Amino acid sequence: MSDALVDAAVAVRDNAHAPFSKFKVGAAVQDASGRIFTGCNVENATYGLTVCAERVAIFKAVSEGARKFTRVAVVADTDTLTPPCGACRQILWEFCGDVELVMANLEGKSETLQLATLFPRAFDASFL
Ligand code: THU
Repeated sequence: MSDALVDAAVAVRDNAHAPFSKFKVGAAVQDASGRIFTGCNVENATYGLTVCAERVAIFKAVSEGARKFTRVAVVADTDTLTPPCGACRQILWEFCGDVELVMANLEGKSETLQLATLFPRAFDASFL
């Protein structure tokens, strides 16, 4: 069955700027009103300034005023499905909490889990 959020992440992955790693990633987030925001990884010659697809997607969404998120999709061309990196898990938690996360590849393999499974005992604003 097709999934518009995964399809959006697959499509935006083509825009990845990944000349250094050659590892292209696409991400998409859906907000409570159904809007979809997408992002791809954007690398930099300094390496350290690279921004992952997930953070591009969430920052685009937040900067457009979106605040409540219902689903996140991450797509890469890997057999073992690619999960968000640690930094992205923290950022996703900040804005999405224990959101539904779909990891998928280009062959149609996918797995859905909750962010808390990947990111248990998160530090967040509730501690402040
Ligand atoms: N990358 C992402 O965009 N998201 C992930 O979940 C994992 C890693 C990017 C960062 C870098 O451009 C490339 O993949 C290799 O690490």
